[in-house]
Amino acid sequence: MESLSSSFSKGLKEREKTLEYVISEALQIPQSQVEDDLEYRSISEWDSMGHVNLLISLEEEYGVTIDAHDRSKLLSVRDLRNFLMQAENKDSNTVEIVGNETKGYSEQKQTISRGLVDVILDSTEITYIDGENGLLQYRGYSIHELVNNSTFEETAYLLMFGSLPTSVQLKDFDQELKKARNLPEPIIDLLISMKEARPMDALRTAVSALGNFQENSLKHDSLNNKISLLSQIPIIVAFHNSIRFNRELVMPSEKISHAANLLYMLDGKIPSINVEKVLNKILILHADHGSNASAFTARVVTGTSADIYAALTAAIAAFSGKLHGGAIEEVLTMIKEIGSPDNATMYVKEKQRKNEPVMGFGHRVYKTIDPRAKILRETAQALSEEFNTTIYFEILESLVSAMRPYIKKGVNVNVDYYASLIYQLLGIPQDLFVPIFTIGRIPGWISQIEEQKSKNILIRPKLSYTGIKNQPYRPISDRNHIDSEGF
Ligand SMILES: CC(C)(COP(=O)(O)OP(=O)(O)OC[C@H]1O[C@@H](n2cnc3c(N)ncnc32)[C@H](O)[C@@H]1OP(=O)(O)O)[C@@H](O)C(=O)NCCC(=O)NCCS
Repeated sequence: MESLSSSFSKGLKEREKTLEYVISEALQIPQSQVEDDLEYRSISEWDSMGHVNLLISLEEEYGVTIDAHDRSKLLSVRDLRNFLMQAENKDSNTVEIVGNETKGYSEQKQTISRGLVDVILDSTEITYIDGENGLLQYRGYSIHELVNNSTFEETAYLLMFGSLPTSVQLKDFDQELKKARNLPEPIIDLLISMKEARPMDALRTAVSALGNFQENSLKHDSLNNKISLLSQIPIIVAFHNSIRFNRELVMPSEKISHAANLLYMLDGKIPSINVEKVLNKILILHADHGSNASAFTARVVTGTSADIYAALTAAIAAFSGKLHGGAIEEVLTMIKEIGSPDNATMYVKEKQRKNEPVMGFGHRVYKTIDPRAKILRETAQALSEEFNTTIYFEILESLVSAMRPYIKKGVNVNVDYYASLIYQLLGIPQDLFVPIFTIGRIPGWISQIEEQKSKNILIRPKLSYTGIKNQPYRPISDRNHIDSEGF
């Protein structure tokens, strides 16, 4: 380390600008403040935006590339210095670059991957994602081909059975889906009892309860039950929506498509072909997305040999959070809060100041634009123009401009960004955005549950213990001082 340090110092001397100088310029702070112990977010100038500027300056000054993985580790002046030293010495192989955060733990070293970042859980034959190049394929078929040529029913078949159906297979599948459009009475009663519940909470509870009322309840994972789930989940969402607004239930139709039936049950009107197409497209784009938090949850539950209702209930719970599926609802709140395209820059600054994420941006896997967002942007624009109401679309576009520095660092628009606006344009109530996204995601979860079962293994990572060890137990009478932060 000593020799690296001196070699880097020599490198520094040879440069016109010292590291301290580059940092002080990027963060707009005095050089005297730049010490090794100075940490990201320890001063107001080194906030998220300052960080982006700083990393860009370092890349320009030192000719290094700082990728998303490096970025998460560069959190102090010391980290930056070490990173640049490693970059300088990379060719001579004097430094071992560890691919993950490495923590000292007693005598041994353990590699911790917080948030399971970059951990490959297993192999899959369902969905291919290339996060660097923004590619997404279901069973080898590009989502672009599918949104242009397929239907939700056909895509669900593709995901669940592994190949595109023949016309006879698709007809049979469609018939089965239509036949399954009904709900057991006790589930309707349960929905009535949850009249005041948030739609996503009611959905989670109803799916959990559904397992108790299925005809094939002893064979929970039968094909019939999987097909029923695809048809019943939209009915749960639509019925609960009618119940909470004291409206009569609109019984499902067996004559129209999955997408059209969903919209029909929500407002009693058969949608136009165009609107049906838009919902089809969006449901196709929601249908699967690799081992995201909810699919991973479904796999964890399946890994214990629990049944499909348990796995889907857990997946729905994971999906509801605003960092995952819940973001789609938050995007519309954000659009309303911004109010005008002119306010977008201020909004981003305010978010930076509060150190809060801008909704609809960022993704664990994509380091470029989410390919689903690219498709949905076109749809959102076309629909806004068709409905002659473009203000929300303009706000989104202005926000994209205001987010340029983030986009340069790989924090780009994700699927929720334009999908939120499309749902709003389709007249869907805001708190149904996440349940409807969920309806789209069911084929993906079912397929992943099946794949997990086909080569099952209990999923059980470890934790690295960092607490105190070998404490002597003291009787309560001896504990007369407060030695913990308990209540
Ligand atoms: C989706 C999300 C949770 C991914 O998180 P992640 O992979 O753990 O990435 P991180 O949160 O570590 O982000 C890496 C960096 O990008 C920044 N970033 C990520 N998403 C951001 C966003 N939406 N707005 C502003 N900055 C963001 C982080 O602040 C972090 O910066 P830092 O390195 O200076 O601390 C995150 O991007 C987010 O919260 N997005 C908003 C919610 C959303 O739209 N979710 C739907 C996802 S499909």
